[in-house]
Amino acid sequence: MIIAVDGPAASGKGTIGRALAEHYGLPHLDTGLLYRAVGIAVLRHGGNPENHADAVKACDFSTAMLDDPEIRSEAASRAASAVSAHKDVRAALLERQRAFARQPGGAVLDGRDIGTVIAPEADAKLFVTASPAVRAERRFAELTKRGVHVMLDHVLHDIEARDARDSGRSVAPLIQAPDADLLDTTNLTIGDAVRQAISLVEAQVK
Ligand code: C5P
Repeated sequence: MIIAVDGPAASGKGTIGRALAEHYGLPHLDTGLLYRAVGIAVLRHGGNPENHADAVKACDFSTAMLDDPEIRSEAASRAASAVSAHKDVRAALLERQRAFARQPGGAVLDGRDIGTVIAPEADAKLFVTASPAVRAERRFAELTKRGVHVMLDHVLHDIEARDARDSGRSVAPLIQAPDADLLDTTNLTIGDAVRQAISLVEAQVK
């Protein structure tokens, strides 16, 4: 069984993807990490994530960056969003994601284009969303807990900028697949969101 979980930043898709993987005993891939690794690789080599050649070159040594302590930082988020708009970067990461999705027994992947590009054949597809204000509060709480000092309105601004870029790019934009179920987590606890995700998946695979 392949489960595709897509949605914008801090929508809850990562938490839901991990919970579904645990529930069904499937391996899980957070595909945002792959783009973050490329973003960090560009920054570490003094490149510009907006620059096509810098971003493409960074794909070659990005795997080594997956353990970088800064991979979840806001700088990495911004760099990831910038590199992910380059068609050749997406192409470089495509096969790895497809192979993960198609391993025997199946998998859960979360990202932006899993249900549309990476695994259009997925058995279940969710599009997880929440209002920008609630997503900013969640990201703010997560960063504050990690001891990162940020301002809520900066986090909101970053999230809105990333939404605009991820939805507006010409290659693999962030959109809900026609056969994906929408799960709006704005007013849901984590527990309720996970329970609803499981029932949506159950209904799709029936
Ligand atoms: O999910 P996460 O916030 O870690 O993703 C970081 C960035 O990577 C996103 O803003 C998006 O631009 C990009 N991304 C993507 N396609 C994916 C996963 C992430 O373009 N499948």
